[in-house]
Amino acid sequence: MRIPVSKPFLPKRDEYRKMVDQIWQREWLTNNGDFLINFEHQLGKFIGSPHTSVVSSGTSALQLALKTLGANKGEIITTPFSYVATTSSIVWEGFKPIFADIEEEFLGLDPQKVTAKISSKTRAILATHVYGNPCLIEDLEEISRQHGLALIFDGAHSFGTSYNGKSLLTYGDIATLSFHATKLFHTINGGAIVCKNKETKEKIDRYRNFGHIGINEFNGEGINAKMCEFHSAMGLLNLSAAKNILAKRKSQWELYEGEISTKKLSTLELREREGFNASYFPVIFDKSEYMLEAVRKAEKNGIELRRYFYPSLNTLNYIEPNHCPISESVSSRICCLPLYHKLTESEQKEVLSIINDI
Ligand SMILES: Cc1ncc(COP(=O)(O)O)c(C=O)c1O
Repeated sequence: MRIPVSKPFLPKRDEYRKMVDQIWQREWLTNNGDFLINFEHQLGKFIGSPHTSVVSSGTSALQLALKTLGANKGEIITTPFSYVATTSSIVWEGFKPIFADIEEEFLGLDPQKVTAKISSKTRAILATHVYGNPCLIEDLEEISRQHGLALIFDGAHSFGTSYNGKSLLTYGDIATLSFHATKLFHTINGGAIVCKNKETKEKIDRYRNFGHIGINEFNGEGINAKMCEFHSAMGLLNLSAAKNILAKRKSQWELYEGEISTKKLSTLELREREGFNASYFPVIFDKSEYMLEAVRKAEKNGIELRRYFYPSLNTLNYIEPNHCPISESVSSRICCLPLYHKLTESEQKEVLSIINDI
């Protein structure tokens, strides 16, 4: 593809090389190396929470977050409109996902639909801040408080988003992040978990390292979800470029928004424009046929549009049949336009000419 839907931001190669040289000098590749410790600290400062743990992926972040709930039995009320990892992590950890439909305008889990699904088996609510657009946080918090449920946010897309003046990742009992290469901020592969207190962070840090509390001592179960020094070095360099990345995204996002002229689609309704990270530019066509036509025409012209999120997760083949009409309808009509640091204005205009021609 001439214009892919996403390209990773890459720091200057010489800067990365210098950090690789330091790894060679220290001969320390993983397990709480200097870069990991520094990256975790800087990331915590950026987010505004000292209770931040860096892990190997956004998926392992979700798995460890779910693990903090304890005995893995019971139901998790969740969104059908997210990436497959949100649902598969629930099933992988032994819980049953119960889908509640989404809000039509903002695409987050609909609190009213959540209430209708609560039962004696419910353990937690797991909602996604879709494209970095905040869920209806206050209502979800109120429901989780009233019913004594944990509230987990999949914040895979939420790096750099603020809501009511603080990082979106500081809401809920736990929020998770993905630093996969396709994300606005990445560590090649990686992720993080932001929680509310020291005890939970210590638990998560044990989970990510086999349960170790000393060389020969263990406390509870664990897996290997550690981030290594090479990924942490990438994280440190990309973190120092984060302001620049976010500003560029915002201007690209505004260009798309200002120049879409077709009446056959709608763009993302933002819950709070000010703090939005402009991580994706989804367009929701009025009909599935229009979206398919756009994808086909774009492909012919060397442009990748990605059907994201598709399919609606309540339709996965390991999920009991159930119906979420809004999510199913949106996911059959939505796709994301190319958006990455190096995307030029003229490339954006090429994309727009295809979209506006539908
Ligand atoms: C909403 C959402 N949750 C979770 C993930 C999984 O993150 P990772 O690819 O880092 O495992 C992704 C990745 O695309 C995502 O978009």
